[in-house]
Amino acid sequence: MAGNATLNLVNATMRAVVWSGIPFNITVQDVPVPALQAATDARIRITSAAICGTDLHTYHGTYGSATVPEQESLIGDHVVIPDNYDPGALVMQLAQPNFASGSAPGLGQDYGTAQGCQAEYIVVPAADHTLWRIPTQDVGNTTQEVNHLLTSDIFATGWTALDFAGFETGDTVAVFGAGPVGLLSAHSALIRGASRVYVVDSVPQRLQVAESIGAIPISFNGTRGAVEQILELEPNGVTRSVDCVGYEALDSNLEGQTNAVILDMIAVTSQRGGIGSVGVYTNPGATSGTPLGNSTTSYIQFPIVDFFEKGLTYGAGPVDPKLVAPYLTQLITTGVANPGFIVSSTIGIEQAPEYFARFNDHLESKVIIRFD
Ligand SMILES: *[C@@H]1O[C@H](CO)[C@@H](O)[C@H](O)[C@H]1NC(C)=O
Ligand SMILES: *[C@@H]1O[C@H](CO)[C@@H](O)[C@H](O)[C@H]1NC(C)=O
Ligand SMILES: *[C@@H]1O[C@H](CO)[C@@H](O)[C@H](O)[C@H]1NC(C)=O
Ligand SMILES: *[C@@H]1O[C@H](CO)[C@@H](O)[C@H](O)[C@H]1NC(C)=O
Repeated sequence: MAGNATLNLVNATMRAVVWSGIPFNITVQDVPVPALQAATDARIRITSAAICGTDLHTYHGTYGSATVPEQESLIGDHVVIPDNYDPGALVMQLAQPNFASGSAPGLGQDYGTAQGCQAEYIVVPAADHTLWRIPTQDVGNTTQEVNHLLTSDIFATGWTALDFAGFETGDTVAVFGAGPVGLLSAHSALIRGASRVYVVDSVPQRLQVAESIGAIPISFNGTRGAVEQILELEPNGVTRSVDCVGYEALDSNLEGQTNAVILDMIAVTSQRGGIGSVGVYTNPGATSGTPLGNSTTSYIQFPIVDFFEKGLTYGAGPVDPKLVAPYLTQLITTGVANPGFIVSSTIGIEQAPEYFARFNDHLESKVIIRFD
């Protein structure tokens, strides 16, 4: 975060988390400190980074660029680096795909940059357009710094899932997935005045966290499906459903079924309601950067008749955190939002390989890497 122009970092090395292109193999290596390339770049010294569910998609070898990512002014400000950079100029193209408008750090060349944030330093292009400041009163407060860190991706994603579903104050909400994004979608719904929020998952520890913030946990585990359980409590269905799972969805027997959450959302959402997907859907094919990228699918069965007859709306896609960052930052600074409740472990960078595996095994809900 705080850049220091006088520091001599020429030919210096730093520790960085490296994805080698081999599924389930993350290492920590010495790599060169990245150099500034343009006058609009800023080099940021990282104080906190998070391990994202999207990192697990890369870890699994099912998401990212076709080639393995290479390793590669705002002086003194404390800033947040979002998961998606601004191009730094107006892009006059109506059909601009979200991630292609800037770039996504750590996802490799197909996403515009080679560099990830789980390292001591990162160079951010078009820094004035991409970074946002942590309010002065929160600088130096680790709790608040972690809260702000989460605006970079998952808090913004959980919040925007509700927008995709057309959320309004007073709605009832079913959140599918109690991973970090699902938990923060539930937190967002409660902040925004939802009347009841159900959170669906099969992992008991995750559901306990959901319950601790005032959501109603729904466990599907082979005995009874989530839809049946929610309709018992909410006979007319919920007005909004959000998918915080994506392509790794499981059916009620806990077996992989890409459309399982989409089917459940359509079944449990009431007439004129809305559904939203922020969980990732991807099918990059088998490449050296995504060796298991052929294990996913581009097509699913979709119950168009039910969807049509209910008059539902469906919003989906990657989220641009910058669009909601001003609101989320304000909510954190005033103490209304506390997204840091999802953090289960804070580690040093050398422990990253172990904690990727723990996160992958659902033993962690959110891991923060702190740098001295
Ligand atoms: C994991 O990746 C590292 C670094 O690329 C490599 O040295 C090591 O052999 C790999 N381990 C396995 C088990 O493939
Ligand atoms: C850090 O911020 C939190 C949340 O606003 C507050 O409760 C806590 O007292 C602050 N800690 C310090 C050391 O100021
Ligand atoms: C499965 O979920 C149901 C409904 O929440 C619960 O009553 C039951 O104890 C769960 N079973 C297991 C094995 O977790
Ligand atoms: C996926 O590609 C790998 C080669 O990268 C191949 O061994 C495997 O059989 C393919 N799997 C499917 C389901 O097509």
